[in-house]
Amino acid sequence: MQPPKFAEFVSCLMTAISSCALYGESHPLIREFSSRALTLLPDLCENDALSIVMIGGSLIVNDEPCVEKGVQVTGFMTRMKKKRIDRIVFRAGLDEEELRRFFSTVASRDALSSSPHIAVGTIEVKLGREGLEAGTLLDEGAGRVKEAIAGVSRFRPLDMTGLEDAVVSFLSALRRESKMLRIISPVKTHNEYTYIHATNVSVLTIFQAETLGMKGEELHDIGLAGLLHDIGKMFVATEVLDKPGGLDPAEWNELKQHPLEGAVYLSRLADVPPLASIVAFEHHMKFDGSGYPDTRKIGRTQHLVSQMVAISDVFDALRTERPYRKALDVRVIAGMLREGAQRREFNPVLVDSFLSSLAAIACVM
Ligand SMILES: [Fe+2]
Ligand SMILES: [Fe+2]
Repeated sequence: MQPPKFAEFVSCLMTAISSCALYGESHPLIREFSSRALTLLPDLCENDALSIVMIGGSLIVNDEPCVEKGVQVTGFMTRMKKKRIDRIVFRAGLDEEELRRFFSTVASRDALSSSPHIAVGTIEVKLGREGLEAGTLLDEGAGRVKEAIAGVSRFRPLDMTGLEDAVVSFLSALRRESKMLRIISPVKTHNEYTYIHATNVSVLTIFQAETLGMKGEELHDIGLAGLLHDIGKMFVATEVLDKPGGLDPAEWNELKQHPLEGAVYLSRLADVPPLASIVAFEHHMKFDGSGYPDTRKIGRTQHLVSQMVAISDVFDALRTERPYRKALDVRVIAGMLREGAQRREFNPVLVDSFLSSLAAIACVM
């Protein structure tokens, strides 16, 4: 195995996939990068196959760990995670037409399936994860969120692989547990609030999106956007975030910067879907255009996913005990969301759909 050739091979794949999304699969650029990738493939094969396996943030190429990943290889791993694929094998005999079909499917929102010389799959079964309880999956995901959030700084990129894995765990947890309120975690200690809240908002928003019929990659990006909605709070002083009483005007102004801070931070990261920046910016806006940041002068309306995250955000915040108030009962929160919908602070259709789906599966209202 020669790492530079592997990096070049993956770079050809990623350039072809990006070009496919922009120009379609028959564009000359895609032909050029397909043929370059096919020229490199024989040198990368062992026993006529190049095997790439992703376990968490680790990459194993032909049974050997690949330590130096680089931007393109990390980007490729992220793409595959979004397709719910963690094992891919390119076999000798692969031709340009089959490779171009692979690029086109990866670039689209369609599910990826194996073809004669490209085998794709998941390693969940090998690891015995199919028997895992929803709670375990959720704890695993929340652990990854905790690690990723703890590493945030203006000068360090986010651990997107960890966050992508967390969303996959949340999606699986929702498949396994029909009682929604058992899935979202209670906050046990004050220090847990940040990552448990991020986890709960992600799970609640995926739940809303699924009940509205959203699927696949779209659902995955929505889960990430839910996870990252408050990332801008990492740049707000802890004394302001944790202040038990009311905030003075200067402190309140600082706190109100977190949507903009989060959106700017996320927009600078290559692997983060643009939806996450939009949601970070808009999650404290209201359906009627009020709230903050105040964008009424420019007539900005809240994105549908930001409207969903705003509902999940308030729902989770109110059911959690905070230093300055007790946790509220779900029925009380439901009443508050309905009143908010009447005042046009939340999208009434989304509130209705969320509460009726929650009531239907959890029998809580
Ligand atoms: Fe927020
Ligand atoms: Fe929040």
